[in-house]
Amino acid sequence: MALKFVTAEEAASLINDNDNVGFSGFTHAGCPKVVPVALAKRAEEEHAKGNPFKIGMFTGASTGDSLDGNLARAHAIKFRTPYQTNKDLRNAINSGEVKYFDLHLSTMAQDIRYGFFGSVDVAVIEACDVTEDGEIVPTCGVGISPTVARLAKIVIVELNKWNPKEMRGMHDLTELQDPPTRSEIGIHAVRDRIGKDHIKVDPSKIVVVECNTPNEGGGFAPVDEITAKIGENVANFFVKEMAEGRMPKTFLPVQSGVGNIANAVLAAMGDSKEIPDFEVYTEVIQDAVIDLMETGRVKFASGCSLTVSNPCIEKIYKNLPFFKERVVLRPSEISNNPEIVRRLGVIAINTAIEADIFGNVNSTHVMGTKMMNGIGGSGDFTRGAYVSIFVTPSIAKDGKISSFVPMVAHQDHSEHSVKIFISEYGVADLRGKCPKDRAECIIENCVHPDYRPLLREYLARGEKGQTPVNLYDAFAFHEAFMETGNMQNIKWRKEKKA
Ligand code: COA
Repeated sequence: MALKFVTAEEAASLINDNDNVGFSGFTHAGCPKVVPVALAKRAEEEHAKGNPFKIGMFTGASTGDSLDGNLARAHAIKFRTPYQTNKDLRNAINSGEVKYFDLHLSTMAQDIRYGFFGSVDVAVIEACDVTEDGEIVPTCGVGISPTVARLAKIVIVELNKWNPKEMRGMHDLTELQDPPTRSEIGIHAVRDRIGKDHIKVDPSKIVVVECNTPNEGGGFAPVDEITAKIGENVANFFVKEMAEGRMPKTFLPVQSGVGNIANAVLAAMGDSKEIPDFEVYTEVIQDAVIDLMETGRVKFASGCSLTVSNPCIEKIYKNLPFFKERVVLRPSEISNNPEIVRRLGVIAINTAIEADIFGNVNSTHVMGTKMMNGIGGSGDFTRGAYVSIFVTPSIAKDGKISSFVPMVAHQDHSEHSVKIFISEYGVADLRGKCPKDRAECIIENCVHPDYRPLLREYLARGEKGQTPVNLYDAFAFHEAFMETGNMQNIKWRKEKKA
């Protein structure tokens, strides 16, 4: 059957007000770029005529500015899930314009299949190849593509020729069976494959938009003194763990979170002479992994996307045979699946926005109310990990904020899942410690010296009990910041007991 080719504007006209649309990709990697621009224009035109035009958006994770940014600026989003990093979308969420619900990324595809969020009317999938019998080969990010492509009534394929069709073979594409008929996921080693190199859909529901549009990979901030020190502390922690027999000498697969700190941590692990060559079982494969692959330090990487800078993706595309032997890209329900994470013994390293002295972590909300990005895959990996580590600089905003507080203003990961904290000051090993000992360990090893006396004072004010919190003063740090712009200006509410 001959494929139907249309313009981006014609494709956008197939999407109607109130439709639920599933988009390919994961982070900026693999997201459609030209149909969203046309869609945003269509929304603005409809709004100018006085007509409503908003869509519900399902994605794998965050997306590029062409997608989240354009649709947010066009006021075209009814709801959005599960993760985002775009400034304009974040503002629309925090102003209450866009209804956003945050999810563990591994559950997104299955929750859509379970029917929790309504139908998928249209899927928009970036591809490097599409065939007349309905085989779609994604580009450098997968996310929820297999699920939304199968369920949608219309599949708009953005055939983006900036990505070579020789990428075919880098992906391992499948969908899980749903309960009660789900069986074991057959991945027992990082490089195991269980799926196909393409997504297959009924070709009669495909329309193709051709384009040649570069990726939107912005790159990473250079490693600074603080992130370098955090990275060094992580690497030294692993060396000690191996020496003391708590970590196999052959090492275990590594997951590292998103952003600059995660990139710096991986670079430091690569530099360590005592850490053996290792494998990566993660969600986003960032620049540092690719650099370490070239030097042989990373032997293999399984992920959901190549979330790399444009120079880095160009390097990968120029040397595809090398990278196809060493990289597999999977749907997010597999890359992030807690069953596999626990089986493989993945070492999870994620970044906290803030943590409390008892070991609870806030990954998502600034001052408890404003959404930053979302939980992403941090929960998928943290709970199932062999050892779960959270890294964070000890302070934010030039020291006006302590990353360690008496009580987190929003909780994403509980004390039960968080094993280790690492800041630029050191390592707090919480394993086998009661809440009071955890608090002392975190204050001693990770907290910035300016905040140590304040947190010790809080601990001394704690009520007697398993966890010595003081509910009157639990948010004294946050209150000081909201009132004066600096957490150090604390006014305790409760008089200290004699
Ligand atoms: N209060 C207010 N702002 C804070 C803060 C705090 N306690 N801690 C950090 N910030 C701010 C920083 O100042 C920075 O602001 P800026 O962009 O204005 O400079 C911003 O948050 C990002 O912090 P940074 O230290 O640069 O870290 P990052 O880029 O590594 O991002 C997270 C940190 C937590 C936002 C990010 O890792 C995230 O979204 N995590 C959740 C999802 C996840 O873990 N995914 C990985 C699974 S694979």
